Amino acid sequence: MATAYSPGLEGVTAGISAISEVDAERNALIYRGYDIHDLVEHCAFDEVAYLLLFGKLPNRQEYDAFRQRVGENRAVSEDIYDLYRRFFSPDAHPMDTLKAAVAVLALSDPEYELDTPEANLNKAVRLYAKIPNLVVNGYRILHGQPPIPPDPALDHNANFFHMLTGQARTDLFGKVLNVTQILYAEHGFNASTFAARVTVSTLSDLYSGVVSAIGTLKGPLHGGANEAAMEMLLEIGEPSRAAAWVKDALARKQKIMGFGHREYKHGDERAKIVKQYALQLAEQTGDTKWRDLSQIIEDEMMNAKGLYPNLDFPVASAYYLMGIPIPLYTPIFVMSRITGWCAHIIEQLANNRIIRPHSEYNGPRDLKVVPMGERI
Ligand code: COA
Repeated sequence: MATAYSPGLEGVTAGISAISEVDAERNALIYRGYDIHDLVEHCAFDEVAYLLLFGKLPNRQEYDAFRQRVGENRAVSEDIYDLYRRFFSPDAHPMDTLKAAVAVLALSDPEYELDTPEANLNKAVRLYAKIPNLVVNGYRILHGQPPIPPDPALDHNANFFHMLTGQARTDLFGKVLNVTQILYAEHGFNASTFAARVTVSTLSDLYSGVVSAIGTLKGPLHGGANEAAMEMLLEIGEPSRAAAWVKDALARKQKIMGFGHREYKHGDERAKIVKQYALQLAEQTGDTKWRDLSQIIEDEMMNAKGLYPNLDFPVASAYYLMGIPIPLYTPIFVMSRITGWCAHIIEQLANNRIIRPHSEYNGPRDLKVVPMGERI
């Protein structure tokens, strides 16, 4: 029985989940009962990854065992690096190479064909461990640099910097990565998570769900907005040009990347948290241009459209000030959201019904087939 049509499924409740709550009225976001402010303040990302996947914050013993397990699973075979060397072009977007590499990784997973909850959790841990290696070393290989083997002794954030730059960071850069990884990890039925749930609702496998999700996250209306926002800041170039640039773009009905949100209409709490860190980075690096330019765009957007920045806006300039290559911004989002995706896939399969909505037909009717020679 069809119900009322809602363009973009706005306002439609498409499922029930115990993983996170996006409370737009209170501007609140909780992961398995914990407020994001509390998590950002007190947790390392590996703890939050464990929380999302296993449903509870780890005690010391569980945390150490998880860290060890993740460390042991970070390496990928040389064949995967060869995939980058032999088949991928340096011009390909890292989200596309990541999508392809994860699809190939699936075929060598020891539990590829097994879809029990336990096997899926094992696959989720392996993906959480290996994806940063694909993201960073895939990028290194395509840019003529040798891969840097992951260090099993380091935590998620330190290992990322170790592979990217050869140096583990535990300073402000490390803190900002930790905060943004936590804030990127999970967000209800966002488009990529929903895509993952739709995929596995057919009883397809976990890897297929993740590949669907990576493809969905790539788009600039979703995860791709962090890269698009930085490209926009670079195009504007100078704070003195910002106000006129935004006015002109809005007059041409152009979307300003990193602004607006389907759920949050009174501001995105995650953006407020990261903005504070972006301000600290500007102070510390002495590069205040992006801070000033961003503030003008924010003010213009509020005046002209009443729209707030979303998480991707402050992340863009924060990652830029940390020297992270722009094409890695969305893949870095994957390094974190893989935990939310896998938690949702496992939850979907625990109480599955195929996700298959109805569409209303508005095409022509009563046409008659004419012989090919008479068709125009
Ligand atoms: N720049 C300019 N106008 C915007 C805008 C933006 N970033 N986001 C929304 N709007 C405008 C729309 O044009 C529309 O205006 P109108 O009513 O005059 O036509 C109104 O705000 C409602 O937006 P709509 O596109 O219907 O919202 P949505 O819920 O369908 O889309 C987003 C939500 C996030 C896709 C949308 O805000 C967007 O495209 N933002 C930019 C991309 C982005 O930052 N994505 C990351 C999301 S976390």
